[in-house]
Amino acid sequence: MFLVQIIRMPNYNTSDSHPGTETTLKISKRLQAIDSLVTKSYQHIWDCCCDHGQLGMTLLQRGVAGQLHFVDIVPSIMMQLRRALKQQFPVQQQWRVHTLDVLDLPLDEVAPEQPQLIIIAGVGGEQTLSMVEHLLAKFCGHNLEFLLCPLRHQYKLRAALQKLPLALHNEILIKENKWYYEIIHLRKSSNVYPVASNPIHARGSLMWDNATELQHDYLQQTIGHYQRMLKNSQASITEHSAIQQTLSAYLELQQSLNS
Ligand SMILES: C[S@@+](CC[C@H](N)C(=O)[O-])C[C@H]1O[C@@H](n2cnc3c(N)ncnc32)[C@H](O)[C@@H]1O
Repeated sequence: MFLVQIIRMPNYNTSDSHPGTETTLKISKRLQAIDSLVTKSYQHIWDCCCDHGQLGMTLLQRGVAGQLHFVDIVPSIMMQLRRALKQQFPVQQQWRVHTLDVLDLPLDEVAPEQPQLIIIAGVGGEQTLSMVEHLLAKFCGHNLEFLLCPLRHQYKLRAALQKLPLALHNEILIKENKWYYEIIHLRKSSNVYPVASNPIHARGSLMWDNATELQHDYLQQTIGHYQRMLKNSQASITEHSAIQQTLSAYLELQQSLNS
């Protein structure tokens, strides 16, 4: 379904490269799947928590961003990235490097009506949630879209996202090596920018459509995880009931997929 893609990139190594020589950058199946959900161009795309910037570079290479913003909080990573970008993408108006906490994104430098895509991948679900909540509250008049690929706590994340002015645009499940990843594309739902939308379900929705072995296996693994949590839990009554509620939602889903 998702084949590992080899992208032709100009020189990746800064030390011994020669202008015009091409190096290959292999991106992971997970990053490739995130990239595949960007199906239109945006004037501004923010690759948040970008680390070495592989996803942003792939999007730049595809030409889907007027300006690609690379954001990470670690200065040494960003210095190295800036060097690599200067070499590989000489048109410097195409990209910007921000050594910043995602909570401090300057989204108000862009006109409110202009769509901005904010990608947050590779950090925990709780951290992802606090970033989305913060940005939505701070830039409530702006036309924001989010592409999220959280590590862990997906149910908790979606349950909280349901309460925000967001609508589901797309959602997929992938497996890379032995790990499963849920990727969620959300758009702001408001009267100003109406969008046709699917509701957000805490256990996910579109990613279970036309379920194959992949979905069934992931669901079984998820159910097993919550069953073990319930058994072993030293949790408070409130936490216990949240686990029970989560487990029930997945069991109900399993029943409907099997019927
Ligand atoms: C595991 S990497 C994810 C890289 C890439 N997004 C991916 O999905 O493969 C996590 C990165 O998030 C960065 N990070 C963590 N918290 C951050 C924050 N509050 N603001 C900006 N960057 C952050 C870390 O410095 C690290 O480089």
